[in-house]
Amino acid sequence: MLEIIEKYADEHKVPIINEEGLDFLFECIKQYNVKSIFELGSAIGYSALRMSIFDPQLKIVTVEKDEERYELAVKYLEMFDKHHQIKLFLADALQFETNQKFDMMFLDLAKSKYQVVLDRFYDNLNAGGIVVVDNLGMHGLVFKEQLKVRRQVRQLVEKIKAFREAIIKDDRFEVKLFDDVGDGVALLIKKGV
Ligand SMILES: C[S@@+](CC[C@H](N)C(=O)[O-])C[C@H]1O[C@@H](n2cnc3c(N)ncnc32)[C@H](O)[C@@H]1O
Repeated sequence: MLEIIEKYADEHKVPIINEEGLDFLFECIKQYNVKSIFELGSAIGYSALRMSIFDPQLKIVTVEKDEERYELAVKYLEMFDKHHQIKLFLADALQFETNQKFDMMFLDLAKSKYQVVLDRFYDNLNAGGIVVVDNLGMHGLVFKEQLKVRRQVRQLVEKIKAFREAIIKDDRFEVKLFDDVGDGVALLIKKGV
């Protein structure tokens, strides 16, 4: 049944996580003993579904602001009978509020919003909890000195570079960058006990 979602994503150009990215998430879930996940950017629910299948004990909250994608995600969760395990919200992450605490946050929404979302939900992450951030390589563009790309793309690359620099200096976290995984992934581990 997963193929139905993968096919839809492919045909409608919905960006969903690839197998390499999923393996990374699964490894993090195991290694850091993750029991609860807060995902920002559900799209059509694919990554949340895959994580819930990987570990049926996980509890996942996921937020999507696009109504059409949200409705499809609702439908797919029903198909897999996963509504007890995954709570899906139609909301802009920049306005969404929750008192819940999580062991892991997965930032997979608009790249320009990573920093604001990281700060907004910092208190929702348990000490020792982790944040996984996807797409930090911008297809290698962040490592190029000279960029011959549209202004809009250049601005986004600059934002990602700034985010990368900010997290490296952020002493609230221990930070590991995996530039060779997918399109570049960061793993942030919240300090404290
Ligand atoms: C890369 S896709 C998510 C893919 C999904 N995690 C997966 O792998 O199956 C990013 C999604 O984030 C959503 N998004 C972007 N900005 C958002 C925001 N501020 N709040 C909530 N969702 C947002 C987009 O509509 C898009 O569907």
